[in-house]
Amino acid sequence: MIEIRNVTKQFQSRGQSELFTALDDVSLTIGKGEFVSLLGPSGCGKSTLMNLVAGLETATGSVEVAGKQVKGPGPDRVVVFQEHALFPWLTVLENVAFGLKQKGIGKKERTELAMEQIRSVHLSKFVDRYPHELSGGMRQRAAIARALAMDPDILLMDEPFAALDEQTRLILHRELEDIWLRTKKTILFVTHNIREAVMLSDRVVVMSTRPGAIKKEFKVQAARPRHKADSLLHHVENSIMECLRDEIDKVIKEEMGDEYSLKKDAVPGDSDPGMGSGI
Ligand SMILES: Nc1ncnc2c1ncn2[C@@H]1O[C@H](COP(=O)(O)OP(=O)(O)OP(=O)(O)O)[C@@H](O)[C@H]1O
Ligand SMILES: [Mg+2]
Repeated sequence: MIEIRNVTKQFQSRGQSELFTALDDVSLTIGKGEFVSLLGPSGCGKSTLMNLVAGLETATGSVEVAGKQVKGPGPDRVVVFQEHALFPWLTVLENVAFGLKQKGIGKKERTELAMEQIRSVHLSKFVDRYPHELSGGMRQRAAIARALAMDPDILLMDEPFAALDEQTRLILHRELEDIWLRTKKTILFVTHNIREAVMLSDRVVVMSTRPGAIKKEFKVQAARPRHKADSLLHHVENSIMECLRDEIDKVIKEEMGDEYSLKKDAVPGDSDPGMGSGI
């Protein structure tokens, strides 16, 4: 479905002559209907990689979707960002129906299609509200409904729940899993949160930083719907944490320079109850 081959992405940093390598020879294949998370420290190139699949960036190497080279954005791929990006002057219903209107679908049909997606994210009572009248969780739900209304083959989600409180985040995990089980969309999901990645994904791709590259992949073969008490999930979380230790160490060292005196054991580890909270 998504085939990323030997992708290298360099940026020109402002005020510097040298190019900065954000992604270094990255290859990744994502199957149809698969739920894959990209996990890694800040700056490792997660959003850059997602933007390449979305067609918002270009790079050397090749990015193919359904056997075709990605040359720009397309209706087969819709992005959901951390900030909902709803139009503030439109209601929930109008926001969700917006893309359908652009597609030329008539009012009756687009209202029906939009309402179906609004129901699937449990926002039926709020269809006439404007974004500023909604909670953060509701706004993200509306953004997901808007993406689903376009019926893309692929959902690209860049930290869609990062700004939400833990309770809301857990509810949205359940809703997203339901949607995915029902629609079997291919989902590429970016997150800092280990627990979130493990809870949701079939496969977690751990990235390393400077330059951004794929460090290791973890399959999550726990039964669906997932239960957070499933010991298999905890086992995978621990393995990922172990894999990320060196990366976190590297980032802290680079950022703190000589002040760095943290012992390896002081980096949040498997006995830390906050382990899943993020990196
Ligand atoms: N347009 C740009 N121009 C220059 N450098 C860029 C640009 N976009 C990204 N970068 C650099 O590329 C690297 C990867 O950025 P990217 O946004 O993909 O990281 P990320 O893994 O998504 O980080 P975060 O978790 O903080 O969102 C960073 O070092 C960033 O500064
Ligand atoms: Mg990012």
